[in-house]
Amino acid sequence: MIIGGYRVGNHVVKTINEKKHLVFNCKNCVYSATLAEDKACRLHACSVASSEKPDLIVLADVYERVYDETQTKIIDEIAELMIDFEQQGVWGPEHLSDGQEVNEQYTATRHSILVRVAHELIAYDPIYAYLTALEELKKEKLRIAKMSDAYQKGAVPYLETLIYLLKKLEDTKIISQTKHYLQDLAHIPDTGQLYRTIFNAEIKPSFIGSRLLFGETKGLQLVDEYMVKDNNVQIFKHPDQIEYWYLINPPEYTLTPDKYFVISKTKEIVSEYRPANASITVGANTKDYFKRVFLSTIKGVAKAYKVPLTLEDQEMLTEIVTRYTVGYGILELLLEDRTITDIYVDSPIGSKPIKIIHSKFGECKTNILYSIDEAKSVVSKLRSESGRPFDEAHPVLDYDLPDFDTRVAVIGPPLSPDGIAFAFRLHKNTPWTLPQLIEVNGMNSLSAGLLSFFVDMQATIMVSGSRGSGKTSLLSALMLEIPQSTRIISQEDTLEIPGMYLKNIGYNIQRLKTQSAISVSKTGIEVPPDEALRTGLRLGDSSIIVGEVRSLEAKVLYEAMRVGAAGNVVMGTIHGDSAYSVWDRVVNDLGVPTTSFKATDIITVSRPIRFEGSLKRVRRLTQITEVKKHWTEDPEKEGGLLDLMLYAAKKDKLELLEDNLKDSELFQRIQRVSGMNMNQIWQNISMLADSKQYLVDVKKKIGIKDILEAENTTLATNKLRLLKEQSIEDYGKANYPQILEEWKKWVNTEFLSYIQTKYGQSKIDLTSQKETVKKTK
Ligand SMILES: Nc1ncnc2c1ncn2[C@@H]1O[C@H](COP(=O)(O)OP(=O)(O)OP(=O)(O)O)[C@@H](O)[C@H]1O
Ligand SMILES: [Mg+2]
Repeated sequence: MIIGGYRVGNHVVKTINEKKHLVFNCKNCVYSATLAEDKACRLHACSVASSEKPDLIVLADVYERVYDETQTKIIDEIAELMIDFEQQGVWGPEHLSDGQEVNEQYTATRHSILVRVAHELIAYDPIYAYLTALEELKKEKLRIAKMSDAYQKGAVPYLETLIYLLKKLEDTKIISQTKHYLQDLAHIPDTGQLYRTIFNAEIKPSFIGSRLLFGETKGLQLVDEYMVKDNNVQIFKHPDQIEYWYLINPPEYTLTPDKYFVISKTKEIVSEYRPANASITVGANTKDYFKRVFLSTIKGVAKAYKVPLTLEDQEMLTEIVTRYTVGYGILELLLEDRTITDIYVDSPIGSKPIKIIHSKFGECKTNILYSIDEAKSVVSKLRSESGRPFDEAHPVLDYDLPDFDTRVAVIGPPLSPDGIAFAFRLHKNTPWTLPQLIEVNGMNSLSAGLLSFFVDMQATIMVSGSRGSGKTSLLSALMLEIPQSTRIISQEDTLEIPGMYLKNIGYNIQRLKTQSAISVSKTGIEVPPDEALRTGLRLGDSSIIVGEVRSLEAKVLYEAMRVGAAGNVVMGTIHGDSAYSVWDRVVNDLGVPTTSFKATDIITVSRPIRFEGSLKRVRRLTQITEVKKHWTEDPEKEGGLLDLMLYAAKKDKLELLEDNLKDSELFQRIQRVSGMNMNQIWQNISMLADSKQYLVDVKKKIGIKDILEAENTTLATNKLRLLKEQSIEDYGKANYPQILEEWKKWVNTEFLSYIQTKYGQSKIDLTSQKETVKKTK
C-alpha cells in the first residue's frame, strides 16, 4: 500500500489465545509506528482492518505497540463506517441537491466536502471528519436562512446527508467519547492531543513476549518508589480500588534502538551456545558463567557495529540478555524484589495482569501482561532443571528455584482447564524471629515467651493454620529457640526453612529433602518422606522438624514420638484451622492412631484475619492449645483440647485463659520433670516474653531493623541462656527477675555497641533513656 507517495509496511494476521492479532511490520515505514501520533498510520490500520476485522492491532518496530481490544474496536468501527459510506455512495448526486437548477452550482463544492468527510478524513482523522461535518452543517444552516425558498428546498437532501453522516459518526465509540467536549469548542482543535488519550498502547520490545501496561497514573497516589537493580518500581493507590498498583519500568522496555540492536544481535549469536563442560548445570554459578560469555559477546558486537557503550551500559545489557536467555525472563524482575512474598500468574495467561502480594501493601495488581509463549518456555526450563515431568498425566510441577529462594507450583490441564498457571512463594531470605513477629503484631510477647518455654521444655508442637497463614514462618522462629548445641534434623519436600542461614549463624542443623507428596511426579532420585524420617531418627538424639506433615511421614513421626525415640523437641506444620481439625486430619486423613496423636503437646493455630469493615488481611497467631492425655476417642467431646491462649478479634489480642491453667496436664508434667513450681514457671515465661519485647523496643529506639534478624537475636537468646545457667550455678536455682535485669544491662551496653558498630550507627546511650524504653513496653 502507498500513502502520500510512500510505501508502508506489510502485515500478517496471527491468532494467539483465540484472538486475531493484526501485526504490521513498521520497520521500514517512513511514518511513525503509532496510532496516536500519526495520521498515515491510522489510515493504514483502518484500511487493513476493514477487511481483516482484527481483535488486536500490533505495530511492530524496535518495540511492539499493542492496542487492546477496546482500542482496536475503535479502528474497526471507523473502518466499517468507511466501507458503509462508500457502498451507499453518500456523495452521489441525489445526496447533494434536488437536481433543480438553483442548487446545481453548489453541487461540486458539496460533493467535495462529503468526499472529504466520508472518505478521506474519516480514516486519517475521524474526529476532524466529524468536526468538519459539524461546521459545514452550521454553515449550511446559516446559508439557507439567507437564501431563496427554491434554494432551501433544493438543499434538503444535502442537509439530510450531513445529519446522517454526523449521526453515524456519533454512534462510533471514538466520537461518542469525545462529542460533548467537541461540540462546545469555538474552533477546530489540534486533534493530536485527543488521539493520545484514546490510543494508549502497551509496549514491549519484540524479543520479550510480555507486555507492560503504561496506563494513565493521573489521579493515583504514589505511595512508594524504589529501585530493584536497574528496575524502577512504583506503587500507587487507586482512590476507588482496594488493590494497590505495582508498576515496573525496567530498562529493557526503554532502550534506545542501537542498544536494542546490540541485544538482538547478541541473542542471535549466543542462541545456540551451550557450555561444553557438563559440570556446569544449574544455579548461580552457571549464571555467572553465562554472564561472562555474554559480556564479551556484547563488547564484540558493539565494537563491530560501532555502537558506543559505557561500562554500565555493557553490564546492563548483559543483565538483560542473561534474563531473557538463561533466566526466567520478565518474572525475574519480580523474583528479585524481596518485598514481594507471592506472585500469581493465573490462567488463561495473558488475560489479566500478574498479581503479587507485597509485604507492605498486600495484594497488588502489576502492569505486566504475561504471554503464553514465555510461560511455555519457563515451564520447559523448570522441567529440565527439576528433572520432573509436566504433561497431561502429570499436571502439577513444584520446584525450588535454585537462585531465587523461591518455591514455584505450576499447574496445567486437565487440572487447570484454562491452561498453565503459576504460583510463586518467595521465601524470606532470613527466618522470621519471635521479636519480628511481635513487632508486626503477628503474636504478642506473652505467646512468644510461652512457646519459647515449651520449646525449651522439649514439647511436641504442631504449628497449624490455613494456606499461607504463616505456619512455616512461626516454625522457623521457634526453631531459633532451640539451643545451638542441640542437633536439629529438618525434613522438607520443598526447602522453605532457611537451613543454610541457620547453619551459618551457628545452628547444628542437618537438612533432609524428600520427595514431594503433592506432585504426581516420582523421579526415583528423591527419597519418600517416611523413609527419610526413619533415616533421620536413626541419626541419633536430635530435635526433629518436619516442614509440612501431610502424608506417609505422619505415621512414622507419631510412632517415634510415642515411643520417645525423638527424645527432644519435635515440631512440624500441618494444614488445619483449629486444634480439632488437626486431630481430624492426623487421625482420620493420615491414618495415625489416636493414642499416637496424643504425643502432641501443643497445637498453635495461625489465621489470616480481616478486621470488621476492612478488606485488608493480616496474619495472626489465634490459638495455643494443649492436647491432654486422658481421653480415648474424640478430643472435643471428651475435653481433650485445652486452650491456653485464644485470640479476641475485637481487641486484636491473644489472651491468656488463666482459668484453664489449673487443668493443664502439661504444666503439671513440666513441674514434675523440671522441679520448678508454677510460680517459677511463670517467672521463666515472663522473662522470656520480656526479653523478646525488650529487643523490639530497642529496635524502635535505635531504628536499626536488622537488630531483630536471627543472626542478632540468637546472640541475645544465647546470652540469656548463659546468664540463667550462671544463676543456677551461683544460687542453686534461677533468679529470673535478676537474670533479666543483668541481660538488659548487657543489651544496653555490649550488644548495642556491637550492633551499632556492625551497622555503622553512631552510639546512642540507651542506659540514660532507660525510663523511656520501659514506658514503651
Ligand atoms: N505475622 C506475619 N505478618 C506478616 N507477614 C507474615 C507473617 N507471618 C508470615 N508472613 C509472611 O506470609 C507469607 C506466608 O507465610 P508462610 O510461608 O509462613 O505461610 P504457610 O502457612 O507456611 O504457607 P503454606 O500454607 O503455603 O505452607 C510469607 O511470605 C511470610 O513471610
Ligand atoms: Mg508453609
